[in-house]
Parts: sequence; structure tokens; C-alpha cells
Amino acid sequence: MRDFHGRILLIGFGIVAQTLLKMLPRHLRVPLNRITVIDFADCTEALRPWTAKGVRYVRERVTAINLARLLSTYVEAGGIIVDLAWSIDCFDIMEWARKNGVLYVNTSLESWDSTGASTQRTTFEKSLYVRYNKVLAAMAAAPRHAPTAVLDHGANPGLISHFVKRGLLDIGQHILKKNRMTRGSARRLQRLMEDGEFAELARAVGVRVIHCSEWDRQLSRVPKRHEEFVGTWSIEGMWEEAISPSELGWGTHEKRLPPLAIVPQNGPGNQIILPQMGMNTLVRSWVPDQEIVGMLVTHGEAFTISHALTVRRRGRVVYRPTVHYAYMPSNDTLASLHEMRCRNYELQTNKRIITDEISEGDDRMGALLMGPKFQAWWTGSILSAAEARKKVPHSNATAVQVAAGMLAAVLWAIANPDRGIHLPEDLPHEEILRHAAPYLGRLVSQHSTWSPLQRHRVFFAENHEATPDTSDPWQFVNFRFQP
Ligand SMILES: NC(=O)c1ccc[n+]([C@@H]2O[C@H](COP(=O)([O-])OP(=O)(O)OC[C@H]3O[C@@H](n4cnc5c(N)ncnc54)[C@H](O)[C@@H]3O)[C@@H](O)[C@H]2O)c1
Repeated sequence: MRDFHGRILLIGFGIVAQTLLKMLPRHLRVPLNRITVIDFADCTEALRPWTAKGVRYVRERVTAINLARLLSTYVEAGGIIVDLAWSIDCFDIMEWARKNGVLYVNTSLESWDSTGASTQRTTFEKSLYVRYNKVLAAMAAAPRHAPTAVLDHGANPGLISHFVKRGLLDIGQHILKKNRMTRGSARRLQRLMEDGEFAELARAVGVRVIHCSEWDRQLSRVPKRHEEFVGTWSIEGMWEEAISPSELGWGTHEKRLPPLAIVPQNGPGNQIILPQMGMNTLVRSWVPDQEIVGMLVTHGEAFTISHALTVRRRGRVVYRPTVHYAYMPSNDTLASLHEMRCRNYELQTNKRIITDEISEGDDRMGALLMGPKFQAWWTGSILSAAEARKKVPHSNATAVQVAAGMLAAVLWAIANPDRGIHLPEDLPHEEILRHAAPYLGRLVSQHSTWSPLQRHRVFFAENHEATPDTSDPWQFVNFRFQP
């Protein structure tokens, strides 16, 4: 247990913040009257047990205009802002925090307005790629000892980057045991593992593709009603990313760009963008022990992992894996998304995040790493709703996984207060997973023989886009689900 003497400003009191607030006092000794919650929604009921003990609640919307006034009223140098709202520009708030000596953590790169729904902007302008380029520029410009800001640190983005590192180390051990290799290669592999040179390690063990593969199997005993969007985390956040263009880290092994792919002409060029919605881009993937068809929804980890695992020689890119999300949400969310399609992508007015009404199921979220030397490896968390609720009453497995990532980021930022801007890849994975592990249920790191060609069938031979590339199972064309 650590003492914290600063003030804590929690912005947004949705399901993740409610879950996090229950975790924080178990890990941080801080008087509750040092905590303020800001949310424009009416959170009186949800906050009553906390306000009774001294937590302050401010019902207001943070906007570009009132940002500085609101923040300076409720937090000062030495404090921390935990940003769990979906409509605050992360660059503006991060800049304010830096200038005022305040730590800052968030779980996603948000902006003042919903970019996904915009029909005025180009696909490229709507991409996360543009926002990450801005993050890279801010990181390069930040002084070495600026107040710490940890960006993107929930479950995915967030913990997924640490699962990738753990997976790479476990694959390294597996290959050392199973594969015949020269003593020199074995020594090199061992050295890369010891030194935590993850990009070189990914290249050495031959990782071609990494999915953040997730199947949310939580079932509600209260079925989705008509005109209702049911989810296990932010409905607005889900809607925004579902209708945004698909984006993926593009691997050096890929032979053929997908039709209409947009290849950025500036920045690190590690991603491609598809001019179609993530919810309509389906990909084969796998979680223990089932093939899934997930949505290739735009997500920060596709950028940050593919960027961190790029290997250059004399300035030229020689290695990068393909990285993307493959999200199979809960049954009720799948039905909600389809109803939303019927509404021409306009979000339903009734929204419900399921917690106590969950009757069974778990959330399986992890990194699926694939390549010819080991086939496939899944490292991640399998957390049942029942266990999640035992750890944090009135929550669900998804929110507990996300809040566990945020908790780890808060603890790390407080212990390292002057380290500037950090993405998940920049944090020590063992320490982060140690903080989060008590909340993650079964932590799995296992080999798998799965490949996207295993059950692949071509139903319509005339459709050349559906023809698999059997010479390399890990080509993107083989993952795309287009019957
Ligand atoms: N990285 C991850 O793994 C991950 C996973 C789930 C959610 N998230 C993100 O975490 C955040 C919180 O998620 P959640 O499920 O708790 O969301 P939620 O929708 O349940 O809650 C968000 C709350 O923020 C409030 N809010 C939004 N904009 C605000 C503003 N400008 N001023 C004041 N309040 C504002 C809303 O009223 C709402 O109560 C979201 O941004 C979401 O996209 C990240």
C-alpha cells in the first residue's frame, strides 16, 4: 500500500471509473476528500456511497472552453488526472497537466467531437494514425523530466502490449526447447530475451501476425430490447470505434495490399487504413479454445505494437508484424450493432451496460501471436463475470480487465512522476502485470495449432478476393472473412 498526498481528479464516472474507484483504496492510501469526480451525467446514485465518505462530485461537462478553469479548481501540482471520459481532447488535457505539474492517465485517445460519424472528413483524417503521429511528435518534443502521462492504458489498448511481451518471451523459451538451432542462434535468442529487445525478438522467433483477439462471452438474463444498445463497456465509445475506418499495423511479410487500402504518406508508415467501418470488416481469429470471427475495429494497440516491433537497418524497415484487433463482442452487443446498421449507423437512444444481470460467461482477451516457427500462441486473461463481481461488486469482466490496466498505470505513474509521455510499450511489463494480475482471472500463455486456413472453405470460387494464399497461412487475405 502506497501513500499518495496529491489530489485525484477522476473525469467520467462510467463503468470503468466506478470499477476503478472501488479498487484504488486497496492499493493507495489517500483521504477520500482528496478525490473529485466530474461527469456531466447524473451520477448521484452511483456516487452516494463515496460522497457520503468525502468524495466530491461535480456535475459538469468538460469542454475546450472550461477545461483550464475546471481542472485548476480540482487538481494542482503533485496530483493526478484519471481521464475516463469519451469526449475530452487528450492533447489539450495532457498539455494542461504537463504545464501544471499534474500526472495524467487515460485509456484511449479521445477528441472533443466524434470523428467516426463525420461525413465531411476523409478516411485518413478520421484515422487514429493521425492522432498517434501527433503523440509521437509530442513525445519527441517533451522535456526529459516532464510530469508523467501514461496514454492508452486500459485492457486493450493497455495490458495487451504487456501480454505481447510475455508471449514473445514464452515463444522464445518454447523455440529454445523444441526447435533444432545452432548454438549461436540459441545464444542470440537468449540474449534478446534477457535484454528485452522485443522487436528483434519478434523478428528472431518469426512472428508474422499479432491479433488482439477478444471474445466477450458474458450473457445477460435481461435480453436486449428493441431500440436499445446493450454493451459491457462504454456504449458511446463502442459506437465511435465501430463506425470508424478499420486500421491495422501492416507487416513486412504481406504480399498484397487489400483493395482500396490507404497507405499513409507521412509519419512512420506502419499502418494501412481501409475506407470501411471496423464493424463491417470481419476477420478470423482464435481465443482458447475456439475459432472466432471478430471485427477489425480501429484500436490504439494496432499502431503502438506494430510501431514498437518495427526493426530498421540503416533507416530501412526490414521487419514488422501485421497487428490488429479481432473483436467478437457479447451476443447482446452483436444484436445491438446489427440494429444500429438498420438505423443507418445512428446510435440507439436507449443504452445499457450490463453488470448484475449477467447470468454467466467470461471475457477472453489476449494477444494471439502467429508465425511459421511456432504456429500460434495466445497470452491473455480469461475472466468470468462471477469472479469479476467477487473482486468488484456490481461490475463485469470487461470493466474489471480495463480498470485493472488503468490501476496499474496509476500506480506506475505515481511511483515514477517525472517521466514524460509514455505509451503502454514503454512501461515495464512484469511490474504492470503484477499490479493488474489479481483482477485478471485465469492468466493463460499457451501454444495453439490454429491457423486461419484450418477451417477455411471457398464457397464461391469466382470471388478472387476470397481465394486463400496457401503458400503462407499468415497473409492478411487468409484472415479476412469474405465468404
Ligand atoms: N483501453 C481499453 O481497454 C478501454 C476499454 C473500455 C473503455 N475504454 C475507454 O475508457 C473510457 C471510459 O469507459 P467507460 O466504459 O467507463 O465509459 P462510459 O461511457 O460508461 O463512461 C464515460 C463517462 O464519461 C462521461 N463523459 C464523457 N465526456 C465527458 C466530458 N466531456 N465531461 C464530463 N464527463 C464526460 C459520460 O457522461 C460517462 O458517464 C472511454 O473513453 C472508453 O472508450 C478503454
